[in-house]
Amino acid sequence: MKIQTADSAGFCFGVARAVKMVRDEAAAGRTVCTLGPIIHNRHVVEELAAQGVTTADTPEDCPPGATVVIRSHGVAPGVIRRLEDRGLRVLDATCPYVAKIHRIVSAQPPGVTVLVAGDPAHPEVEAIVGHCTAPCYVVEDEDKAEKLLDKWGDLSKRHFVLVAQTTFLTSRWHKIIISLKKRCTNLEIFDTICKATEKRQAAALSLSKQADVMVVIGGRHSSNTTKLLDICQEQCPSVLVEDAGDLAGHYALLSRASLVGITAGASTPVCIIKEVQRSMSNLDNINNDMTFEEMLDQSFKSTYNGEKVTGVVTSIKPNEIAVDIGTKHAGYVPLHELTDDPGAAPEDLVKVGDEIELQVVRVNDVEGTVMLSKRRLDAAAGFEKVMAAGETGEILTGIVTEVIKGGLLVLTSGVKVFVPASQSGVPRDGDLNTLLRKEVQFKILETNRQRRRALGSIRAVERARREELAKTFWEEVEVGREYTGPVKSITNFGVFVDLGGVDGRIGLTDLTWLRVKHPSEVVSIGDVITVTVKDIDTENKKVSLIYKKAEDNPWEKIKEIHQVGDIVEVKIMSITAFGAFAQIIPGIDGLIHISQIARERVEKVSDKLKVGDVVRAKITELDYERKRASLSIKALLLAEDQEAEASMAEAAQEAPEVPAEPAAEEPPVEEETAE
Ligand code: F3S
Repeated sequence: MKIQTADSAGFCFGVARAVKMVRDEAAAGRTVCTLGPIIHNRHVVEELAAQGVTTADTPEDCPPGATVVIRSHGVAPGVIRRLEDRGLRVLDATCPYVAKIHRIVSAQPPGVTVLVAGDPAHPEVEAIVGHCTAPCYVVEDEDKAEKLLDKWGDLSKRHFVLVAQTTFLTSRWHKIIISLKKRCTNLEIFDTICKATEKRQAAALSLSKQADVMVVIGGRHSSNTTKLLDICQEQCPSVLVEDAGDLAGHYALLSRASLVGITAGASTPVCIIKEVQRSMSNLDNINNDMTFEEMLDQSFKSTYNGEKVTGVVTSIKPNEIAVDIGTKHAGYVPLHELTDDPGAAPEDLVKVGDEIELQVVRVNDVEGTVMLSKRRLDAAAGFEKVMAAGETGEILTGIVTEVIKGGLLVLTSGVKVFVPASQSGVPRDGDLNTLLRKEVQFKILETNRQRRRALGSIRAVERARREELAKTFWEEVEVGREYTGPVKSITNFGVFVDLGGVDGRIGLTDLTWLRVKHPSEVVSIGDVITVTVKDIDTENKKVSLIYKKAEDNPWEKIKEIHQVGDIVEVKIMSITAFGAFAQIIPGIDGLIHISQIARERVEKVSDKLKVGDVVRAKITELDYERKRASLSIKALLLAEDQEAEASMAEAAQEAPEVPAEPAAEEPPVEEETAE
């Protein structure tokens, strides 16, 4: 059997608009009443009734305080007045095409005769007549029109205006026009047949000419549906069904057909058409294990909000996936209902053909769609897991997705667990943002099933882990053992290192051989360092550590470099009343006593030296036991003096002997003679 649906079938613009107005009003929480069924389709009416929408036949039946929705057929002005007189809010959902007819006929002066081609009992026609101030007559076909004209005799002086019910049969409309044109010389025609109706009727006619059987879907009281049936019946055997359930009565006829055509009235939702199509398709499988009735049952399968269903992924778009859940509805899962991760792409999460568990979020029988959620189902299952973890103390893993006032939100199995700042494990003055997007482990402290809330603690996990590590630590620790761990905190007097469950302390003197004012000159928080256990106090659970290394001991190094008597260049590091300390090598400062600063007596150290000066001095003492070194500038100076003197003496000895100056020659004494 081949099944073909007419090109134009089902819900029209005006009906869809009216239903939406009712839905929106009900969703806003108002008391909604429609004046007459909003649509000739019991499925939609029942669905709206489930949302609290009532139907009243007259303005007087409408509940006080209600918003009264005027359906797409429209009503006469007097009906609106009766509603307003009762103080009711009126929401006019009259189809704009129908409202246009109201404007045409109400604009006609009393001298004009208005003719309406339509069904006089149809609410739309009653409303049109109600808008006429001029004389108005309804004609159902050309015969009725002829008879009406016969009554008036001479028509030459009459001005006629002709309009049509929007869903009037076009073939009949044309026949009426032909009849009227023959006799009425002053005839003004307004073709007010809705184009949607015309299109639907033309498509039904075209298809029914080819089909063996036509199935017309729609309400039995729907004017446009019965007209479609009329059109189809003129071409081939045709049946009217309100939904797939009615097909069972026509099985014999349908099973003999090679081509079955389907059309539907303006009030028929897509889901009903789909349901009928599906049931018709099942006829092809009639010889399979399932009976026709079983297959019909299958095709009726509906769903409801909150139901858990299994869906097969049929297509994937960037912002949603389509799924087949085995009902008449077109299922879809928007991206935000697929996952909690806003950065995720659907194609990374599922692929076409995947079977996934889903929860029904919203069923739209009018549009034939159902919105589903994987996220909510995951969250529901996840919440049970969280509840169980709260009971058992199980450690959960999650991602920190948000930093909010007072703490963090950690996402685990689709559930957001609140972790207060005090339970985050971040120090009080720390930044919670350091945990953002990080994976954390936590324990559940509290749960509230009613409010679907859970409170967790990262700190509790860390505490438990530290306790475990501490137990192992105390079993294994011994003096001299090396540990590597991060620096956790620094005080003026030392450094605390995380040894894994236990914090050990390095005193300032065990931190470095160098002279430092603060431990932060050596290490920073977070530095991972290797330390040696110096002392253990198991009773008070305290561990002393050494960071400085023996091989870096400057007293060992200086042995290889210097000895007493060496002349060295040293830098003045500090000044005291009794002398100055000068660095010989890093880690060893020698004292230059005030008496050793200069040759002469020094009253004040600062008169001769200041911090930073580099001076030459003689190492006068290296006391390895007491770790003391002494220097002397004076000794160096005296030594230099002595050296100078010695040099001079030596120079004197080696100088050539100076001969003694000869005595002045006395003039020779002349000898006296006797004469
Ligand atoms: Fe309006 Fe045409 Fe539908 S008149 S209600 S759109 S059939």
